[in-house]
Amino acid sequence: MENISYDQTGKINLNGIYNRDEPVSYFSALSRLGYRIPQEAKPRFESLIEARRRSTQSEAIKVIDLGCSYGVNGALLKHGLSMDDLYERYAAGPDNAGALLARDRDLYAEPADACLEMVGVDPAVRAVSYAVDAGMLDAGITTNLEAGDPKAKDVAALENADLIISTGCVGYVTETSLERLLETSIESKPWMAHFVLRMFDFGAPEDMLSSHGYVTEKVEGLFPQRRFASSEEQEHVLGNLDQLDIDASGAEATGWYFAELHVSRPQEITQSVPLDRILRSDAFQPA
Ligand SMILES: C[S@@+](CC[C@H](N)C(=O)[O-])C[C@H]1O[C@@H](n2cnc3c(N)ncnc32)[C@H](O)[C@@H]1O
Repeated sequence: MENISYDQTGKINLNGIYNRDEPVSYFSALSRLGYRIPQEAKPRFESLIEARRRSTQSEAIKVIDLGCSYGVNGALLKHGLSMDDLYERYAAGPDNAGALLARDRDLYAEPADACLEMVGVDPAVRAVSYAVDAGMLDAGITTNLEAGDPKAKDVAALENADLIISTGCVGYVTETSLERLLETSIESKPWMAHFVLRMFDFGAPEDMLSSHGYVTEKVEGLFPQRRFASSEEQEHVLGNLDQLDIDASGAEATGWYFAELHVSRPQEITQSVPLDRILRSDAFQPA
């Protein structure tokens, strides 16, 4: 990758591809890095969606995807696609944004799971707008919830959520956004599931959720997120992990970022429906 710059956490800065008129640069850069955390997340999110449906006894379910970008989790969960499908789809196709959008509207016209309502949250206005126009998302809001409360029209899109998810987003967001989302759905008591890189501590979100009567459980195992973009990036991250006393051998030392899955649910449901009954534990275990 040319012209690599790094953010304050040591990760390469990808801001240049997060908010373009169409998703081609996003998928092409991430495919070169082997980005696969939404794919790892997919079967876990699907199990949580099915469990939540059983719990509410309703097929209709509203999922909020924080840091949704171009609706990646929407494409996987609502339309049944894989990351490889998306990488292939955006490596080919018309090279002007209008024609690409027209193609995508056709491709996303008939969702595999029509009872699943996907609402995205991301300040990347162009990405969210593309995802909603194309049909990967049912709705999107672009208010930065780190900086301020959702506006009245945002609340209408967000309220009564069943499940709040994220991939590759904690680090950009904190417990501030999570609490604002929770407060818009205080009646429906949404569950949460966040895939979080090991160098980001989930302690503050866990404490905030606990103050709302939620219990957070970390699922056993590690989930590969993407390859490091450079040896400098790997060194930065190994340094961060070392400072946190996290052993990177057999994991980040092999050249990949790894994430953990944190699932938060109201305390009463964690007792009546144990998490290991919902999720199979077949995640990667470092040697
Ligand atoms: C690595 S991408 C992950 C996108 C998508 N979830 C995926 O897995 O493909 C990180 C996303 O976080 C978004 N982001 C950055 N700051 C944010 C904020 N304050 N609130 C919500 N999303 C944010 C970026 O715009 C970007 O779309």
